[in-house]
Amino acid sequence: MELKVEGISKNFKNDTSVQTVLKNLIFSVREGQFVTLLGPSGCGKTTLLTIIAGFQAASGGRILINGRQVTRPGPDRGFVFQNYALFPWMTVRDNILYPMRQRKVPAKDREKRLEELLTMAQLEGKEKLFPHQLSGGMKQRVAFIRALAGRPEVLLMDEPLGAVDMQMRQSLQDDLEALWLKDKTTVVMVTHDVDEAIYLSDRVIVMSAHEGKIVDDIYINLHRPRDRKENEYNKLKELVSEALQVATGRRADSTEAANNPYLATLGGEATTV
Ligand SMILES: Nc1ncnc2c1ncn2[C@@H]1O[C@H](COP(=O)(O)OP(=O)(O)O)[C@@H](O)[C@H]1O
Ligand SMILES: [Mg+2]
Repeated sequence: MELKVEGISKNFKNDTSVQTVLKNLIFSVREGQFVTLLGPSGCGKTTLLTIIAGFQAASGGRILINGRQVTRPGPDRGFVFQNYALFPWMTVRDNILYPMRQRKVPAKDREKRLEELLTMAQLEGKEKLFPHQLSGGMKQRVAFIRALAGRPEVLLMDEPLGAVDMQMRQSLQDDLEALWLKDKTTVVMVTHDVDEAIYLSDRVIVMSAHEGKIVDDIYINLHRPRDRKENEYNKLKELVSEALQVATGRRADSTEAANNPYLATLGGEATTV
């Protein structure tokens, strides 16, 4: 599957003004690619992801999945929310079967897929439990495999690990990577964590606080699993951190600095403003 974001804009109106959150955003994601949207809080990441999901309409432009225009939510897109959002009244088993029922997967295949997913996420024996009976990490793994259960063409994740502590976060990143390597589903994940972006992605798109403009598009060509101690890893981390600082407006980008006589007198160095 290929995902195309074609000139997406989004305005929010209130009584007195119009806020342009996204303006003419253009990029495409090829089959099997793991893309991360990285940007400062409030830059429009969730807005863009929910437009791709079909949860809300854009003010302009369109989303194409395999050439088909998105008009509403559909089982071709799996979604992992910031706070798990499992159905609390359903067992683990029913949570995972839900998207497969939506996709009308035959009962026998559903059971087989359920087994496979529970094994992949090391959740064997937990299928009769309800979400409140699980640890945070288990809930997160159920949310991942539920999103993958219907074999979506695109997996959309909004800061899926935002609510867990550092150590758990790194171990869940490994789980997520292992799940992804198994199916190689196309992924668009939102995060504001530079390390998470580099650790997991094939490509990091950096969005700016201003109209969600794409300020950088960086390919991460490191072997997997990634080694946080590797030189190349840390160089990329620095590069992406700098792009994020530009995006946040805390650092003038170098071309701007070079063209700005005031900044130029400071040696043309990128400067804190
Ligand atoms: N339904 C809405 N109505 C009005 N403003 C909204 C709505 N949803 C988001 N916004 C505004 O759009 C901007 C981007 O929000 P969001 O996409 O949630 O950012 P991010 O996920 O990058 O933190 C924010 O300024 C937010 O207040
Ligand atoms: Mg958000």
